[in-house]
Amino acid sequence: MLVEKLIKEHCLSKEEYIELLDNYTADTMEKLRVEADRLKRQYYGDKVFTRGLIEFTNYCKNNCYYCGIRLDNKNASRYRLTEEEILLSCKTGYDLGFRTFVLQGGEDPYFTDDRMVEIIKEIKSLYPDCALTLSIGERSHDTYKRFKEAGADRYLLRHETANEEHYNKLHPENLSLKSRMECLYDLKSLGFQVGAGFMVGSPYQTNETLAEDLVFLKELDPDMVGIGPFLPSHDTIFADCEKGSVEKTLLLLSIIRIILPKALIPATTALGTADPKGREKGLLAGANVVMPNLSPVTVRKKYSLYDDKICTGEEAAECQGCLTRRVASVGFQLVSERGDVYRD
Ligand code: SAM
Ligand code: FES
Repeated sequence: MLVEKLIKEHCLSKEEYIELLDNYTADTMEKLRVEADRLKRQYYGDKVFTRGLIEFTNYCKNNCYYCGIRLDNKNASRYRLTEEEILLSCKTGYDLGFRTFVLQGGEDPYFTDDRMVEIIKEIKSLYPDCALTLSIGERSHDTYKRFKEAGADRYLLRHETANEEHYNKLHPENLSLKSRMECLYDLKSLGFQVGAGFMVGSPYQTNETLAEDLVFLKELDPDMVGIGPFLPSHDTIFADCEKGSVEKTLLLLSIIRIILPKALIPATTALGTADPKGREKGLLAGANVVMPNLSPVTVRKKYSLYDDKICTGEEAAECQGCLTRRVASVGFQLVSERGDVYRD
């Protein structure tokens, strides 16, 4: 019943999502997966878009309890790429065919608004045919405006959880769900293609908080949604917490594809870390983006949000080859175009 309703209406109430998440079976998962696959193909065919991820700094002024690069982790070996190194990573990516670059990092005060604007302008002037995505956390409306005017196209900022109490259990006092949401709406109003998302199986998450995530996603209507399993990092206070379920991540990928049929949804590195075939399964469940790493190999291991992260030893070209084969193995085609969100 609920499955049919979700497929027909692309939306359920919070109570209905809870019921669906409480009672799902292998049969439910398969029905949702098939519909998610159909919807994805309706808008994007068999294309899987690729994004070159440049993890340009692991300095962070925040202390999210789940994150391996949090400020209080004194064991983290900190690095930041120079502007030249960032540009070199873009060049390597461009030569390999990438037409989207994602600059992701901790909230690093070194990268002031002025420095970021300079980097954005430089990348966009060298590669005007590429989309530039930022993922550098919370900044003011005016700062986001400057980034947009400098040429940034997209912004990833996972909301992490739409339940305030849950948010406060994952973050220290200086961070709030209210401010996170304000940022997302600011980014949207400024014309960014916006990405929200959350970890599946984060400590204290329940089917009720997940249902709130789904209601929130429908309301925000983001262009991109990133979800992956929570994976413990030994250097955090959640070190001994259980990791998130791959199966539930796949179920949620299908549900999110049905709620937001045109969304760009990555099969995340966390999913590939939790299960050697996780990214392939993610693509089959409704994802249509992969984000191989373009950061220099020398720093890869240091961008350690959680333990045992995959793809930390390979050069960009090897990652590209490996992903091309993995994507093809489940019947999709890895393409190198910009891959903007589908609009009517
Ligand atoms: N600092 C930026 C921000 O906060 O949006 C971008 C970088 S942040 C490290 C990227 C994402 O990694 C977070 O939004 C979070 O969902 C995810 N992440 C952090 N720690 C994780 C963990 N232990 N397991 C899985 N995902 C994690
Ligand atoms: Fe850096 Fe959360 S620890 S943003």
